[in-house]
Amino acid sequence: MNESLQNYQVLFNSVTDAILVHQPAADYSAGKFIEVNDAALAMLGYSRKELLQITPMDLMSKEKYPVSAFADNIRYIEKNTEVVSEFAMETKSGKTIPVELHSCMFKFGGKRTVITLARDISERKKLEEEQKKLRYQSEMSSRLAAVGEMAAGIAHEINNPLTGVIGFASILMEREDLPADVMEELQIINSGSQRVVEIVKRMLTFARQAKPVRSSVNITELIDSTLDLRSYVLKTANIEVVRHYEPDLPLLTVDSGQIQQVILNLILNAEYSMKKAHEKGILTISVKKEGEWVRMSFRDNGLGMSAETLGKLFQPFFTTKDPGEGTGLGLSLSHGIILEHEGTIRERVYSVRGLNLQLSCP
Ligand SMILES: Nc1ncnc2c1ncn2[C@@H]1O[C@H](COP(=O)(O)OP(=O)(O)O)[C@@H](O)[C@H]1O
Ligand SMILES: [Mg+2]
Repeated sequence: MNESLQNYQVLFNSVTDAILVHQPAADYSAGKFIEVNDAALAMLGYSRKELLQITPMDLMSKEKYPVSAFADNIRYIEKNTEVVSEFAMETKSGKTIPVELHSCMFKFGGKRTVITLARDISERKKLEEEQKKLRYQSEMSSRLAAVGEMAAGIAHEINNPLTGVIGFASILMEREDLPADVMEELQIINSGSQRVVEIVKRMLTFARQAKPVRSSVNITELIDSTLDLRSYVLKTANIEVVRHYEPDLPLLTVDSGQIQQVILNLILNAEYSMKKAHEKGILTISVKKEGEWVRMSFRDNGLGMSAETLGKLFQPFFTTKDPGEGTGLGLSLSHGIILEHEGTIRERVYSVRGLNLQLSCP
């Protein structure tokens, strides 16, 4: 073997992508492989001898790629200088691997010859899938937060007038001088109102603004899992999350669902503010122990807040955002949750750049 041929073979076999050379038949149907490199053997699980006895059709999933499609493909490659496509190849053991193919045609010994470079893109596909999942999670968390805020807001608005309706109906029903038909109609008003009470209660449960159901919660784990829900948005908005978690923090006795809702609202607000301010930012989350309390603080470097905004922060429906962008219910909902945790959440100081919360240790 002369030296240059040997050099060529070393080069051919040192390429990390699979290289498959084959000669299609005269009618453009699949012909045998005439050369393959080591990477192709490793990827497909065949020996060189085995691979040189089969055709490209044998490496493709039969349902997905009918024989006629193969000939069309070869004609297409013939007309174009380089064709890039994605395929699924089958290994000898029957495993399907997604590949990116680069194919081009040349004449070898007077015959049409196709050289194909195949790259295993399983990793890339997996990453793409993960990205898709993260994006979906972010969307779902946004939607859930919005629906929760809406439900809490509506419930809040309905409860006040409803108290009046039920109160006066029961006062009237206690009177003994009412004609029977009026009494009957009062009963209808009463039972209808009770139904509304039930509906509102269900809505509030949905918005998680019911009485806290407490359990032992690892607060930093809860923060991390909430951040996970937002990881896609945080990344695409160029927001860096800096965590200062003190080690050996005690477990807290809180309603994890409700506290997660508070954390999510704080993250959503910080996200929005930083995106709006400069399309990037740093969200700093610190958690530390202070005597009998654990303090968590969420700080962002976004728009900041005016004194006026700070004063109205927890009012239902207070928002500085455009219609469709904010409901003004996130913080009032969070505030409600914090109040429900009476005694176990002490201080909530909203500074221009974020919020400090103090939660008591059990
Ligand atoms: N991190 C923050 N940075 C700047 N402004 C904030 C921040 N958090 C809350 N705000 C202000 O408080 C308002 C009320 O917040 P919220 O109750 O969550 O309702 P929404 O986010 O729907 O507007 C916001 O519209 C905004 O003006
Ligand atoms: Mg909000």
